[in-house]
Amino acid sequence: MLRVGVLVSGGGTNLQAIIDAITNRQLQGVEIVTIVSNRKKAFALERAQVSGIPGTWISPTSFANRSDFDQAMIDHFTTNKVDLVVLAGYLVILGEAFINAYEGRIINIHPSLIPAFCGEGFYGLKVHEEAIKRGVKLTGATVHFVDGGTDTGPIISQKTVEVLEEDTPESLQKRVMEEAEWLLLPEAIGLIAKGRISIKENRVLIAIEERD
Ligand code: GRF
Repeated sequence: MLRVGVLVSGGGTNLQAIIDAITNRQLQGVEIVTIVSNRKKAFALERAQVSGIPGTWISPTSFANRSDFDQAMIDHFTTNKVDLVVLAGYLVILGEAFINAYEGRIINIHPSLIPAFCGEGFYGLKVHEEAIKRGVKLTGATVHFVDGGTDTGPIISQKTVEVLEEDTPESLQKRVMEEAEWLLLPEAIGLIAKGRISIKENRVLIAIEERD
């Protein structure tokens, strides 16, 4: 079993997609062992409760400094024996100590086709606002490993979504979630659980599925 810890900040629809994929057995060999939010009121924590998965709140604002927060996060994930950290709409930039402790074992979902509309400041509706402003005809989502930069880690998978003329940032955000994010994230976790993912020179290689 791959022991997954999910980090959230908001509504948690990506978290829900992972939970649903496990429940309907599309995603096998995976167990969510902890859900951590930096916001006490995040609806994602209610989803955790409904699903019977331990949810907790760890916020940088409750610590004297960043390194204490990082250490508390490392302790929490180590205690829970987490193999893979999944950022599912997590809005805190992780500290170096945490990233080093879980190097190659943290993945994130970003709502654009990286390297477009990503990096510092590109989160939430802003990403979709900029895509519409630039007039791109295709956007999408990307699952990638997390390294020291913002949205710079090796790319695992991407999926395109059409931008319609009548799209608002809100309608585009919704379609990118429905058509790309909710599919990509469980799929990427499944590939990692099956040991099919490796990183070579900053590029992700996906091994062909072995048939039995
Ligand atoms: C998603 O668009 C995700 O890509 C972005 O934040 C949003 C999170 O939504 N980083 P939810 O909390 O999973 O509903």
